[in-house]
Amino acid sequence: MSRSLVIAIDGPAGTGKSSVARGLAVAMGARYLDTGAMYRIVTLGVLRAGVDPADAAAVAAVAAEVELAVGHDPGEDRSYLAGEDVSTEIRGDAVTKAVSAVSAVPAVRSRLVALQRELASAPDNVVVEGRDIGTVVLPAADVKIFLTASAEERARRRDAQNVAAGLPGDYEAVLADVRRRDHLDSTRAVSPLRAAEDAVVVDTSDMNQAEVVAYLTELVEQKAGVAR
Ligand code: DC
Repeated sequence: MSRSLVIAIDGPAGTGKSSVARGLAVAMGARYLDTGAMYRIVTLGVLRAGVDPADAAAVAAVAAEVELAVGHDPGEDRSYLAGEDVSTEIRGDAVTKAVSAVSAVPAVRSRLVALQRELASAPDNVVVEGRDIGTVVLPAADVKIFLTASAEERARRRDAQNVAAGLPGDYEAVLADVRRRDHLDSTRAVSPLRAAEDAVVVDTSDMNQAEVVAYLTELVEQKAGVAR
């Protein structure tokens, strides 16, 4: 691939998006930017400041000051809050519960979107993963991919992850939560989750991770060939 390419990967949780985005970045020798991690770092900053995630004005004030950094190696991407490695903590329950409220605050989004554009602008291949990359953050991305999977399949994967992590399995409860979050994400006022008009929509319900990465790598190669 001679020219640098910007690849946007969007879609809901449970589609295998993060693993696939990392796999594609490795296959392309590209940098990888996990924008969800950035919303999680700000959320951890909000919680540590003792601010109520539902208090939008206070959240915006913390977000304006918070010092965050993310790595861009797809094999080992790390997240930092004020220089501290918080890669594990941002995946914990407390952050996961609060991140929806924090990421709905317009001031949080505008700061992070500006940072994401800056990070994506370096002159080399980059895979940027999130919810609004193809629609809002990088509407001129060379390739836009929107991953989907049925609610049932996403619930099945999450339930299996819970069981593997030693938590009790409860498929029906997980499915209800997936449906609830789908509704919230697709109907929220700021940057609702939807595929860009020029995105390639890929349903991963019946594909494993290697199949999806192989398919996307081919798609990107075709696109790079056309662009050359
Ligand atoms: O992909 P994730 O679960 O790590 O994302 C964490 C949260 O951040 C999730 O609630 C959606 C939100 N998010 C967002 O609003 N916009 C993005 N570009 C990425 C994530």
